[in-house]
Amino acid sequence: MTERHYDVLVIGDLNADIILTGDTAPVFGQVEKVVDDLVLVPGGSAAIFAAGAAKMGLRTALIGKVGNDTFGHYMLEALRGVNVDSSPVIVDQAIKTGATIVLSRGTDRAMLTYRGSIAALTEADVDRSWSQKARHLHVTSFFLQSGLCSAIPNLLAEAHAAGLTTSLDTNRDPNGEWNLGGPLAQVDVFLPNEDEAKALAGEVDLDHALEKLAAEVPLLVVKRGELGALALRGRERVEVPAFPVDTRDTTGAGDAFNAGFLAGWLRGLPLIQCLRLGCACGALCTTQMGGFKGQPTWAEAKAFITRHCNLRRG
Ligand SMILES: Nc1ncnc2c1ncn2[C@@H]1O[C@H](COP(=O)(O)OP(=O)(O)O)[C@@H](O)[C@H]1O
Ligand SMILES: [Mg+2]
Repeated sequence: MTERHYDVLVIGDLNADIILTGDTAPVFGQVEKVVDDLVLVPGGSAAIFAAGAAKMGLRTALIGKVGNDTFGHYMLEALRGVNVDSSPVIVDQAIKTGATIVLSRGTDRAMLTYRGSIAALTEADVDRSWSQKARHLHVTSFFLQSGLCSAIPNLLAEAHAAGLTTSLDTNRDPNGEWNLGGPLAQVDVFLPNEDEAKALAGEVDLDHALEKLAAEVPLLVVKRGELGALALRGRERVEVPAFPVDTRDTTGAGDAFNAGFLAGWLRGLPLIQCLRLGCACGALCTTQMGGFKGQPTWAEAKAFITRHCNLRRG
């Protein structure tokens, strides 16, 4: 067998994020409003996760698609800058790289996404030789990737057959249908946020949603923004509060959390430590604009946790 050179293989979306802050509620009728700031940052759930995983010391490669355009080149450069192997990313002349306009205000945000290359990735684009090279497969943005989503159960099953563990973060369903159609059977770690968990389970009550989803996956991890996160594994339930930070922009917090959590899980750490790592990465991510910048290294995340846990005890 080929040696597994990568800890994590990621399949998913990479696109540019244009984040506006201040009074960002648009007003139609040709009203021009002035906002406080605009930044262009690397985005896409898979790209942000991959950057976080690489920063946390995991050898990471990303499979995805971009157009041969400014945003596509920008994303490939950004991934190189954080040591993510983007050699399996396809550059397609015929499509435009996706982009999201993020209207950010404090701990909340609204997003307008042009999917472009995000929807253009298909099963045929996924080079299967990569599953021989990695220990773990993480798949993101199930619903946004309309060209790939029906093949995701199959890709996860193939990964399992090749000896990889798997994780999935669906993110939101922009169509509001929330129909997964089967992939949970092949997921080892399922990582929705609280609203997504409720929508996927078809329950308004969180505990009912947790009960339903936890019956379908070996490990359910639910992100709860300022409330922290929880994990359910069989009868075991572990919950941790969020770390208090000065939040500037929550873009990518969920993906940063996933990177921290899985960095711990892949090292075989207890759930409480995995959750703390996730919450530390999520919290630190919110202190900077965009998903890439605030994400910590392993040493930074550990030092942050030690500092805050000492403060809580003291
Ligand atoms: N305002 C915040 N303050 C501190 N931590 C936060 C904040 N927002 C998010 N986090 C951390 O990041 C994690 C993921 O963020 P969350 O918003 O729940 O995910 P998603 O981006 O998928 O909606 C949370 O579980 C929490 O630990
Ligand atoms: Mg999310």
